[in-house]
Amino acid sequence: RSDGSTDYYDIVQKVAKAEILPGLATTVWAYNGIFPGPTIDSRSGRRIVVRHRNELPVPTTTHLHGGHTPSDSDGYPLDLVTPVGGGQNGTSHGTHRGMTPVRVSDGAKDYTYPQDQRAATLWYHDHRMDFTGPSVYRGLAGFHILRDDEEDSLPLPKGEYEVPLMIADRSFSENGEFLYPAADPTGAKPGLKEGYDVGVLGDVILVNGAPWPILEVAAVRYRFRLLNASNARRYRLTFDQKGAIPFVQIGSDGGLLKAPLRRTSVTVAPAERYDVVVDFSKYRPGTEITMLNGLGDDSTAQVMKFRVTRKATDDSTIPARLSQYETLDPGKAVKTRDFAFERGDEHSWTINGETYEPGKNFATPRIGDVEIWNLDIDGANHPVHLHLDQFQVLGDDERKADAGLKDTVGLTAGQKTRIIVKFTGYEGRYMLHCHNLEHEDMGMMADYEVS
Ligand code: C2O
Ligand code: CU
Ligand code: CU
Repeated sequence: RSDGSTDYYDIVQKVAKAEILPGLATTVWAYNGIFPGPTIDSRSGRRIVVRHRNELPVPTTTHLHGGHTPSDSDGYPLDLVTPVGGGQNGTSHGTHRGMTPVRVSDGAKDYTYPQDQRAATLWYHDHRMDFTGPSVYRGLAGFHILRDDEEDSLPLPKGEYEVPLMIADRSFSENGEFLYPAADPTGAKPGLKEGYDVGVLGDVILVNGAPWPILEVAAVRYRFRLLNASNARRYRLTFDQKGAIPFVQIGSDGGLLKAPLRRTSVTVAPAERYDVVVDFSKYRPGTEITMLNGLGDDSTAQVMKFRVTRKATDDSTIPARLSQYETLDPGKAVKTRDFAFERGDEHSWTINGETYEPGKNFATPRIGDVEIWNLDIDGANHPVHLHLDQFQVLGDDERKADAGLKDTVGLTAGQKTRIIVKFTGYEGRYMLHCHNLEHEDMGMMADYEVS
């Protein structure tokens, strides 16, 4: 729906059955009952309102990941939409740790997105305090694609040759239900690890909700918007045809790069997006190209296949210059802050020694300020995510993988990294957190407040 200045979308969050494994019905909690949820395809600069109606048995909050969003629509973990008509009252879960009042919307909430940001591959997912892991695992995730004129004017692959790919691992019980945590109590199933240390890992790789799918492609260039929507699994992705074939990275979390990067693999941590172009033109019909995961073993070493089925004419090219954005100058930073991501006691994870306490601000930047945040990582892997603004990674050539504008950076054990960010747009409460969803639920989050 549109009234001229605003486009309206309605999404119903509900319990549904999906046939994910052949012949078995999986119970999903999903946007409009489908997993992944409906893809929102929208224009930069165009205001949209998404009404989320909650027909699930638990409260929810919906976050637009990568969105430049006013605080009251950002999906704060205690900004809950309670189930339509009452249902189970789950709001008590949010209140035990902190003083921040739970903000409750009854049954439905309108999330407003001004979309004052460049074209990018965003996604939306549940963000409820302490329960983001299980909620996303059950299916509460979808793409939100933002387009703009600059990107449309480029001769990149478009239409049917532009495909978003949401990669996520899951485990299933014998009768086809999602297993969360994924550990097999008998220990008989190989490849599964107990939940709260590395996070919940599954032994089935889903792409857009289908296990190890095969995509039929024409012998042309394709643009794939890769999203790792897994709770905890990292992937090193290659396109393999008798060895890894070269491809081109054109974009990152926050949109197009300035210039394309030739690559043979990308390492994608949870919540990161890599926008890549793969050229199938030299393959004859019948050829299969396999997307492999160099960090997986057995069933998780393979992600999907592409089968070339036909010839087609290709008028796409990859321009040498893709986009423009301001490279932030470290000399302009008005503040440097330190954040240590560490294991806590028992099953907890901490930032600067503390588990998440809603309402406690770990930073108070002003709108327009440029700041440098030092991220110091303990002996585990932590994909570090910032709400509100995209950042740039200040690093050496080794971090070239993170070229471009990022909202999530997949940091590994022992790494120290600096990010630089300019806070823009909106006052209010936002978050810095680990996007390993089990780490996030076990405390590895911090609030910050922009004024
Ligand atoms: Cu995709 Cu705060 O998360
Ligand atoms: Cu986010
Ligand atoms: Cu973590």
